[in-house]
Amino acid sequence: MTIPDPVHPAWLPSEAFRAIGARRTLVLGDGLLAGTVHDEVAQACARYGGRVRRDAGSEPYDLVLALTTAEVPPGVAGEVRPDSALGDEGYVLARRDGTTVVLADEPAGLLYGLFHVVRLGEGAFAAERPAEHHRPATRRRMLDHWDNVDVHPVMGQVERGYAGGSVFWRDGAPRGELARVRAYARLLAACGVNAISVNNVNVHATEAHLLTDRLGDVAALADVFRPYGIRVHLSVNFASPVVLGGRPTADPLDEDVRTWWADVTERVYETIPDFGGYVVKADSEGQPGPFAYGRDHADGANLLAEALAPYGGVVHWRAFVYNHRQDWRDRSTDRARAAYDHFAPLDGRFRDNVILQVKHGPVDFQAREPVSPVVAAMPATRLAVELQVTQEYTGQQRHVCYLAPMWREVLGFRPWGDGGADVAELVGGGDLVGVSNVGDDPYWTGHPLAQANLYAFGRLAWEPRLDPAAILDEWIDLTFLQAATGDAEPAASGATDRLRRTLHEIMDDSWRTYERYTAPLGVGFMVRPGHHYGPDVDGYEYTPWGTYHFADRDGVGVDRTRATGTGFTGQYPPPWSEVYESLADCPDELLLFFHHVPYGHVLHSGSTVIQHIYDTHFAGAEQVTETRRRWQEAAGLFDPSLHARVKALLDEQVRCAEEWRDQINAYFFRKSGVPDAHGRCIP
Ligand code: GCU
Repeated sequence: MTIPDPVHPAWLPSEAFRAIGARRTLVLGDGLLAGTVHDEVAQACARYGGRVRRDAGSEPYDLVLALTTAEVPPGVAGEVRPDSALGDEGYVLARRDGTTVVLADEPAGLLYGLFHVVRLGEGAFAAERPAEHHRPATRRRMLDHWDNVDVHPVMGQVERGYAGGSVFWRDGAPRGELARVRAYARLLAACGVNAISVNNVNVHATEAHLLTDRLGDVAALADVFRPYGIRVHLSVNFASPVVLGGRPTADPLDEDVRTWWADVTERVYETIPDFGGYVVKADSEGQPGPFAYGRDHADGANLLAEALAPYGGVVHWRAFVYNHRQDWRDRSTDRARAAYDHFAPLDGRFRDNVILQVKHGPVDFQAREPVSPVVAAMPATRLAVELQVTQEYTGQQRHVCYLAPMWREVLGFRPWGDGGADVAELVGGGDLVGVSNVGDDPYWTGHPLAQANLYAFGRLAWEPRLDPAAILDEWIDLTFLQAATGDAEPAASGATDRLRRTLHEIMDDSWRTYERYTAPLGVGFMVRPGHHYGPDVDGYEYTPWGTYHFADRDGVGVDRTRATGTGFTGQYPPPWSEVYESLADCPDELLLFFHHVPYGHVLHSGSTVIQHIYDTHFAGAEQVTETRRRWQEAAGLFDPSLHARVKALLDEQVRCAEEWRDQINAYFFRKSGVPDAHGRCIP
């Protein structure tokens, strides 16, 4: 496989395969993915001098990767055999008597087991290891690409993309760099991703044709993803029967429309037999949907689900439906309420191959939002939670912002309080979806450290209870340290410790740092309209978008209480319906999401709201300066071009964080007239 030269190997540098490549491996099992496992090992052996076989022979092996149905040589796997089924993707890993064994029921499990061994490096071949069973918590671990085929006049090649162009499309055509797509597929499989949608949820004129006359372009991508266990999905336009099929209507209850979707879907499966399904953004931000025909979203979703059902396909139907033409003067309309108001009454009406895809927060991927109440409101509906790996609202891959701690909080939220299920359990067996942060940038993600977000997304989707710092360690080991420690130079170990420490210091708390210098206390937005980068406190205040902070001379925040506000708090079950309703109990970090309070309101932290705004903005900007200093000190530890790239981005982050600090502080000082208790400079 040749990858274009300048592309960074991310978490799969060849050194990550050194431990495997230097040993004797046996791969037992048939099928495409078992072939991939063999080829991966063979490639590593060609580099590091080991051997790999696909039939047992009589020689000893250091590593055996075998299907449970295979004839494993006596003594190798007997005691490791699992009692219960490992499922489509699970595996058991053990080390006994000098052999490391991975057993799986299906070839996908062998592939995930192989990448587990890669993560362990030399550790996989050290001490004896009791059998560990690994099964993914979610069935689908999916990345949505918001990539356009045509360059959109406003949104460009990739909507909300901060890593250059698309890896799939360029200027209206497939990009055709399949080696790069293959390298991407490999990276995704190595962190556990098993599904991908290859075009933007906003399906414009050209992209609509991927479903029909340009299906071959999708099939070509599916061929590349398939050997890595990744199924391809497609975003489709709800009005396709009209825009592609020349029908007079796209009414979901119209017989002719149903037949049109059934026929088109049949052709899709003839071309791509393992096609995953459709992703739909309907009646949202100008996209067509069932409302135009007086139908609801269950009617709309079921139409597509019915067409997909014979082939085992699914429809990811997005719950991001709200009025984006709101009158800012109207305080009774609350965008946060919209998803629940539209969808909760439909619970129980969706076919079982509809997956309702819910953004993790009720508004729009802000750095701080409560968890969407929809996740607790639809027990009879399959749900996917959608996270935004691309950093639209978290620094656009110019700022360091490691998002795993935020996602971990989301997944650990318990809608019914202590003792009840958490979000991870609610989506357990279901789907976790991330909006991809990848583009044609040589580092894949623009900011090299943003690779960690992609890696962490996959790992958390597989195992939602992983600790974000531990995931970061895995990523650091694979990306930076395997190369350094391969020869186990004792002198080098001080440097590797420093490298690890530097990255933890810079990244562990970077999301909270970002939160400190941007919109305060959960109020959200305050970004520049349109591109959403940098501060503009009133940028959205008098617009139709429904994202307001309501600051005046007396106070700030959105009253979403039942008592005096929009009633959004009532969408949560107890205890949260009470906790969020209560000014006394509402967590500080979400205070302004739920309440409009005077600047002198005292937080649980003991600080007033206005002083908190000043303090966090000074502190946040200072932390970024400190981050830059730490990075500069670490110059010798990283590849010089990577170091230079991050250094330049940190200069921008410092500039931008100071701009945020000064605009937010000046704005609230001017509104409130309350001086900073510490007399610092507020311009
Ligand atoms: C955000 C984003 C849009 C995107 C939308 C969505 O509003 O700014 O670019 O299309 O989310 O999730 O559909």
